[in-house]
Amino acid sequence: MNQRIANHKVAAPGTEANRSANGEAPASPAVTFEMVRDNPRVKSFIRSADSALAEIGYTEHGERHVGLVAHIAYNTLKRLGHPDREAELAAIAGYLHDIGNAVNREVHAQTGAVMAMRILTDMGMPDEEVVQVMGAIGNHHETDGSAISAVAAAVILGDKSDVHRTRVRNPDMIKFDVHDRVNYAVEKSFLNVDESRKEITLELTIDTKISQVMEYFEIFMTRMLACRKAALFLGTSFGLTVNGNRLT
Ligand SMILES: [Fe+2]
Ligand SMILES: [Fe+2]
Repeated sequence: MNQRIANHKVAAPGTEANRSANGEAPASPAVTFEMVRDNPRVKSFIRSADSALAEIGYTEHGERHVGLVAHIAYNTLKRLGHPDREAELAAIAGYLHDIGNAVNREVHAQTGAVMAMRILTDMGMPDEEVVQVMGAIGNHHETDGSAISAVAAAVILGDKSDVHRTRVRNPDMIKFDVHDRVNYAVEKSFLNVDESRKEITLELTIDTKISQVMEYFEIFMTRMLACRKAALFLGTSFGLTVNGNRLT
């Protein structure tokens, strides 16, 4: 089965972790994805991070982006047969992964991990889960992060595959800014997780009148390498197709 990146709605991750083996509620229920998404502090931090990035000319990093990353991270682990709770932690890490941008773009992954620790601990998440989420957030950036766990790998794949026209804030700038131009040229992005073939493929439809495929590589080569390592961590290969042509 495939998952559409264009679908911006986050599927509700499972809540199996809230039930014990005999179906009774455990003493302390798990912190769910929905609880994190609806937390007022989380909303405030995500909006602050996005407006800080708008000020310095970055593409959209708000609720659309983080919701999508959460959705892809969750579905990727579910499709590959990982436990429900692990997939839910990936969704939580995906939703929180860019909050550090509210403090500074530099080292935002690590700053965001510490901010998430405070939020999740206050919500009652146990330390062994908090540290998994922190590790994924702190390693999501391609220049200073690695796929250290399945949760981290899933967040990297979700984050790096969100290249899309809708992220460009000001289409008038596409003549001048290569990041805006490449993002604007991407009409469709689709992360195909093929569990039977153990293959993850990012399928892009690019308008080459706006940006040439070479420009995409110029900008996103390090991101594609990060995706490859993340896919390998999950026991799969990684491929890229542009306008139907397989490039990797
Ligand atoms: Fe980021
Ligand atoms: Fe991101």
